[in-house]
Order: sequence, then C-alpha cells, then structure tokens
Amino acid sequence: MNQVYLNGEFLAADQAKVSVFDRGFLLGDGVYEVIPVYAGHCFQLDGHLQRLQASLNGVRMGNPHSDKEWKSLIAELIELNGGGEQSLYLQVTRGVAPRDHVFPEGVTPSAFAMSNPLQAVSEKYKKEGVAAITLPDIRWQNCNIKAITLLPNSLLKQQAQDAGAAEALLIRDGYLTEGAASNAYVVLDGIIYTAPKDEKVLPGITREVVIALAKKADIPLLEEAVSEAQLKQADEVWISSSTKEVLAITQLDGEKVGMGVPGPVWQQIDALYQDYKEDIASWQ
Ligand code: PDD
Repeated sequence: MNQVYLNGEFLAADQAKVSVFDRGFLLGDGVYEVIPVYAGHCFQLDGHLQRLQASLNGVRMGNPHSDKEWKSLIAELIELNGGGEQSLYLQVTRGVAPRDHVFPEGVTPSAFAMSNPLQAVSEKYKKEGVAAITLPDIRWQNCNIKAITLLPNSLLKQQAQDAGAAEALLIRDGYLTEGAASNAYVVLDGIIYTAPKDEKVLPGITREVVIALAKKADIPLLEEAVSEAQLKQADEVWISSSTKEVLAITQLDGEKVGMGVPGPVWQQIDALYQDYKEDIASWQ
C-alpha cells in the first residue's frame, strides 16, 4: 500500500483522514509543490522548498516544517515508497477551523505529502511533440503562488483535452503567459523567449533549469513575454514542468508550429536537460 505523510505521521494512504473543516477542503486555502524523484533523489529540492516558502508567504500562512524537517520526512517517504522514480506531492493548508473567509488565529497548518508513480515522458511525445490550443488566461492576479485552488487551471486543461490538445497556452492582455500546468517558451530567429518572473506566471523550477542550461551553452534566452501574434509566427514552441520535462508543441490551434516537428533548439535543450538529470551529483 502506498504510504503518505500527514501531520507528523506516516501511514497507508487509505488510513489518512482529514477533517471536513480543513480550510483546504472548504476554501481551497492551501499551497503545494510537485517534485520529481529520480533514482531515489529529489530533483532541485532546495528550489522547491524555497518556492513552497514563497507561496506560504504569499498567502500569509506559517510553514509547519523547517527545511530540515521537510528534507527528512521527504527522504523517509521516498524510502517507504520504494525509492526509484516518483512524483512527490507536498501540500500545506491553513488547517482546521470553523468556516469563515477571515483567517483563523492560532491554528496549526495541515501538512500532507504523498508519492505517485512518475510516468516517463512518452517517446512518441518526444519524437512528435504535442498539440496545444490558445485560451484566454482566466486565472487570478497571483499566479506566482502555487495555490491548490486550481479550478481555473483545471477548466482550461479540460478545454484543451476536449479539443484533442495536451495543453492550453494562456493569453493575457495580448501576451503569452504560460500553460495551464506548465511554463511556456517560444523560439524566434534562434532566440528563446519565456515570460519574466512576475505575478502572471509560476516561477517554474524546470524553467530555472532550462534558463541555466541555455546560458551555459550560450544559447540566447530572453525573459520577455511574446505577443500572441509572435507566438503564431514562432519557429518553435515548448512547455516545461516537473513531470513533463521540456516538451515541444508542434501543433498550435490546429496549425503546424515551424515544420510541425520538434525543432533544433528544443533538441539541443532536451539533450542538455537529459544529461543534467542523469548527473545527480551536479544538482544543487
Ligand atoms: N505544475 N506553471 C503552472 C501553472 C504549473 O502548474 C506548473 C507545474 C508549472 C511548471 O513548474 P515546475 O517546473 O516547477 O513544475 C508552471 C505541476 C507539475 C502540477 O500542478 O502538477
């Protein structure tokens, strides 16, 4: 049975219970992280824990654990679930209190962690890329916070799925922000563009890796948002996330992107990304 962590205890998933008064359940009042685990090791753990703290600060919530405690319980959870490749999910909610919009006082946040199987990125997707559609970015003004309140993202992703696409690329005020569950990149004349880190996008951990790899390999990359018109003219479009790595979008709104196959800049970045993933000793 899959083991989970809940408020100081490790237990079988079907034994883990939370109160119906938990503000995560009633108000979606919580934040989360998704961390890939390769060969039993968390990829970019410090970055994920820093972003968790930033999300908690953003919603004025305390952190129930120090980084040291998170690291130790995460290591134990990975071990209990057999090591290897996993997708780790951490969640902190404001805790259990009578339903009220106003924050309760003196309540301990609830901490939860679970492990899911990490699906390897499909070879077909890597070879052919995937389809995406553009949709208006209907989310809130604090997309830099990784909140569990994912109804807009879920509606957008479902619309993409209904259209036979793998992701929705979101347009706000005429500019590409990111995907419903990923960061987005556009290659124009050999330059990679990705939206800057502000309240319109999640500061993706995979995005940080991509930026560092491009810099090291002298591939030009600008943290600048591109317009919807530029997106439609792109030579290459990609998305990135902890579970999908870096994936090429080869069809956008039913039209081919570039030649309709993953482009040369994606090939270069993906090769660098795969090498980096393998080289566990080089992760921070
Ligand atoms: N989502 N932007 C959004 C809106 C996301 O939901 C995600 C990841 C990303 C990429 O961030 P990272 O590289 O740190 O995974 C960007 C996760 C995987 C999820 O919600 O399951």
